[in-house]
Amino acid sequence: MPRTAIAAELAVWDLAHVWHGFTQMAEYEPLVIERAEGCWLTTADGRRLLDGVSSLWCNLHGHRHPVIDGAIEAQLEKVAHVTTLGMVGATAVEFSHRLADALPGDLNHVFYASDGAAAVEAALKMAFQYWRQCDSPQLGKTKYLAYGGAYHGDTLGSTAVGGVPAFHAMFAPLLCEVIRADAPDRRVPAGATPAESTAHHLVQLESVLAARHAEIAAVVIEPLVQGAAGMVMQPPGYLRGVRQLTQKYDVLLVADEIVTGFGRTGAMFACQHESVTPDILCLGKSITAGYLPMAAAVASDRVYGAFLGSHETGRTFFHGHTFSGNPLAAAAALASLDLLQSERMVEELVPQRAEQLATALAPVAASAHVAEVRQLGMLAAVELQDAATGRPLAAERRGGYHVCRESTQRGVWLRPLGDVVVVMPPLAASAQELAMVGEVLAASIAAVLGRE
Ligand SMILES: Cc1ncc(COP(=O)(O)O)c(C=O)c1O
Repeated sequence: MPRTAIAAELAVWDLAHVWHGFTQMAEYEPLVIERAEGCWLTTADGRRLLDGVSSLWCNLHGHRHPVIDGAIEAQLEKVAHVTTLGMVGATAVEFSHRLADALPGDLNHVFYASDGAAAVEAALKMAFQYWRQCDSPQLGKTKYLAYGGAYHGDTLGSTAVGGVPAFHAMFAPLLCEVIRADAPDRRVPAGATPAESTAHHLVQLESVLAARHAEIAAVVIEPLVQGAAGMVMQPPGYLRGVRQLTQKYDVLLVADEIVTGFGRTGAMFACQHESVTPDILCLGKSITAGYLPMAAAVASDRVYGAFLGSHETGRTFFHGHTFSGNPLAAAAALASLDLLQSERMVEELVPQRAEQLATALAPVAASAHVAEVRQLGMLAAVELQDAATGRPLAAERRGGYHVCRESTQRGVWLRPLGDVVVVMPPLAASAQELAMVGEVLAASIAAVLGRE
């Protein structure tokens, strides 16, 4: 069958049978990927697209990296699946050991899940159960403090701590009560210096913690940057302040590093920018360099210790997943960590690439259609605006959607968050590839929103 005919058939089947996440299926235009190599995707009909969002924020070393492919193939020769319920695969043990070594502080106990949301769900239940069986139990600690604009996944617990109305408001009747703090956006209050912004948000957090700490099991935060909120950046020192306040008021800190982990922000883990060790740290997405589903909630010695005792004490964490700690995923994760560490990627490659990305996005930032370009390491976002008024675009224009559709047609796959275009290529993207992302995005903005 000719390639175009196969592609047409796949498009029909895609529309008929695949229900895509976060996608209005009545408007969906099939985009079927047949293969990928490095930073390039090849569609079923043979078009090549530069992967500008790392396969949804998770690919690090490019697609079909020989070291990771080789590690998965070698693992296949041994065993493809071993559960972690009462046993474990050797590769998952080795990876856990290496991960604990790479993580800050005493985050030594890796609880595996398969998606980020499930890792957050585990972290929430761990925090709740911790207060029931720690040395000085506090049974009133049954709630979580989370942020406006937060996104932690789509299970009911992770939805409850989420704070994006468009995603989460629908499910409100199903969700546990959450105490909400404002998004720690470094642009707030308007006109504030970074230090003033930090102080403002910490004062707000402290007022809530002072009043309600006896009810709060954990503060749940995306450290340094709220991803799905539109890559909203926090002011410097905020995370460190949160850690100090959670210690002062005896509340656990859950750091969701599902987006920020594994070098993306310029440190191996975002918490390390502010020398913070949370009580539980969640990982996902790039844990396997975006190869295979794996996620984890990693607990400190203190949290883990509260779960130990004889069977009769009922301290067991009754929670788990069939595919947790899957050996193929663990092999990919171990190979990716090897690459990150042995090639000193976080220390050397990421700063260099981040500078190249900033250069590539400079013409975009200069556009009157752009309110702001935000960047932290190899994570960037372009916030669109109405060039005439300098205010947000009217929602019905769907600026972000149309700009990304245009850029995909021009050869760079991008995906928006409302009117924020996420730019997050693999860490392995070359200077030329990063330049192409910038050029195509600038041209797409001009084509969709008009030349200035
Ligand atoms: C910060 C954060 N946490 C959790 C998740 C959920 O991860 P998953 O989609 O793997 O369930 C996401 C997904 O984008 C995320 O951005």
